[in-house]
Amino acid sequence: MAELRSRRSNLAVPGSNPRFLEKAKGLPADQVFLDLEDACAPLAKPGARKNIVAALNEGGWGDKIRTVRVNDWTTEWTFQDVLEVVGGAGANLDAIMLPKVQDAAQVKALDMLLTQIEKANGLEVGKIGIEAQIETAQGLINVNDIAFASDRIETIIFGPADFMASINMKSLVVGALHPDYPGDPFHYILMQILMAARARGVQAIDGPFLQVRDVPAFEEVAKRSAMLGFDGKWVLHPGQIDAANEIYAPSQEDYDHAELILDAYDWATSEAGGKKGSAMLGDEMIDEASRKMALVIAGKGRAAGL
Ligand code: GLV
Ligand code: MG
Repeated sequence: MAELRSRRSNLAVPGSNPRFLEKAKGLPADQVFLDLEDACAPLAKPGARKNIVAALNEGGWGDKIRTVRVNDWTTEWTFQDVLEVVGGAGANLDAIMLPKVQDAAQVKALDMLLTQIEKANGLEVGKIGIEAQIETAQGLINVNDIAFASDRIETIIFGPADFMASINMKSLVVGALHPDYPGDPFHYILMQILMAARARGVQAIDGPFLQVRDVPAFEEVAKRSAMLGFDGKWVLHPGQIDAANEIYAPSQEDYDHAELILDAYDWATSEAGGKKGSAMLGDEMIDEASRKMALVIAGKGRAAGL
């Protein structure tokens, strides 16, 4: 858990807007993704590539994870996006986000392209990670293979808006519960993505919530995926950042309790503590499985600076 980098809030920034690119540098998001895909009109994409390269090379991003979302492989833009962005700013970039991933071959194709560009530009091979967005029915049925398709994979991301379109969902409010469905219509999809991410040992990220002025509604949606174990969520507006940073970190109370469990179990299993396999912490019985659960909460808490 020690090397976990927080991705509680993942800020979307349209590459076509230099003012937003500049503003994003000072916002308290754990990660930014500079967008060449759906937030950029086709005619604006060439200019957006240049803006993104300039913004990355100018610096000022602090310790944020810097990602660029390229266009998906069915378009005419993907290879040029990757070539220009990684060729122009690879030293100042952490990962490429690949949208609408359909199968493992699409990840492998990006992996090979990245390797060539890294070699051609004197970058360490494997430096640039891949974040795979699952936003179609086909992507979801292949998500396990996608998660294992490349060593570069760092996150599996749910793209709810495109996904709702892909499966003909009868709703226009992205990621939200619907009065006509007695449960959470996204639970199955979120769990599939989470299982693939955890089996592969990478982070699972929830996608956007479009009603950007309704922060309580954002919180409601975010709390559900955070509870399942998701590591973070996209934020489309500065107003959503603090909420995501709080919701995807453990509460201070849970974090303190996790550290207490770890200390108590360490002591109980030690020579001096009697080499016990289980112990009492107040009224709670703790054992090796408690230690594992506590490690997850403590790891997320430490990464979030609690
Ligand atoms: C994000 O890309 C989405 O489609 O929800
Ligand atoms: Mg999408």
